[in-house]
Amino acid sequence: EKGGFDHFMLKEIFEQPTTIHDCLRGRLDADKGTITMSGISKYAEQLTNANRIVMVACGTSWHAGLVAEYIFEELCRINVEVEYASEFRYRNPVIAPGDVILAISQSGETADTLVAIENAKKQGAIIMGIVNVVGSSIARLSDTGAYTHAGPEIGVASTKAFTGQLAVLTMVALKVALEKGTITHERFLQLVRELNAIPEKVAKILEQNDAIKALAEKYKDATNCLYLGRGYNFPVALEGALKLKEISYIHAEGYPAAEMKHGPIALVDSELPVIFIATKDSYHEKVISNMQEIKARKGRVVAIINEGDKQSIALADDVIVVPETDEILAPMLNCIPLQLLAYHIGVAKGFDVDKPRNLAKSVTVE
Ligand code: F6R
Repeated sequence: EKGGFDHFMLKEIFEQPTTIHDCLRGRLDADKGTITMSGISKYAEQLTNANRIVMVACGTSWHAGLVAEYIFEELCRINVEVEYASEFRYRNPVIAPGDVILAISQSGETADTLVAIENAKKQGAIIMGIVNVVGSSIARLSDTGAYTHAGPEIGVASTKAFTGQLAVLTMVALKVALEKGTITHERFLQLVRELNAIPEKVAKILEQNDAIKALAEKYKDATNCLYLGRGYNFPVALEGALKLKEISYIHAEGYPAAEMKHGPIALVDSELPVIFIATKDSYHEKVISNMQEIKARKGRVVAIINEGDKQSIALADDVIVVPETDEILAPMLNCIPLQLLAYHIGVAKGFDVDKPRNLAKSVTVE
């Protein structure tokens, strides 16, 4: 049932070229240059006229919401807020007519997310569910939505569900942006083509599994680890740190790269691995200067980069090269080596990566 893999987590990481493809299939047509999503089209008007979109989720799904915040604001020019479901449900959130709530959940059963949307629904918000498990409670409670079609995720650490969420959220943003006229048709087509190429680029990254395993051996004895990124890759830093924490029990923190100067930089010494997500995007020069600041304090830098990035290569102790894509789509690629790194460190330390201690696959109690 693990399909020849040692663990479900590794199997599910390796399934991603297929699961992302399955998520796009029947929706994105790169030849025609169209995206079809019936659940979204039904509510196209509410989405394009939305005052704001509130993403409600927990854990990794919350990270997908954070990436989507950057994407929706850039492409659709809609105000987006991303809320921890557990906080949102106990506040007295201001919900106005025209607010759309996007609930993001792999299991569709997370108690806090479920109750948060129940409350919002009572106040008149439109609820859209981005859910993996078909027919789950969140899917049923939602007015509409889209499934991620990632298939059953058994490993407790979420991997393929996350990239599925990113793929769905990107398609929704693209549809809304085109409808609203906040992007040109040309830009839409360009992103459709790039999105269509993501599965094969993920497959290219997976070819580096052995190299990433070797890095895991090198860094497995770290007691702390810092993950840094900016823009679209800031949530990727959070996600990389979460994966490492839950699988290898190494304390890890994700931070916006520039924010480290306001505290975490005090942790940097020659023992501390600092993982930079440093692919070429509009923030690249800024990320490089953050990398210089870490090197100046003798931190051990591992950088996720695109080919030919001489500046990063000169600064980093180790690099992992990922294919280029549009910066909006980069999180779907950049999270892959971080999933593998966490997996291999957990395995190297002898832990049960499919069932990390104290964690449940689906948190149905608050
Ligand atoms: C992390 C992880 C959790 C879940 C969170 C939300 O790897 O799996 O953080 O992402 O419990 O679960 P869902 O998406 O099922 O609502």
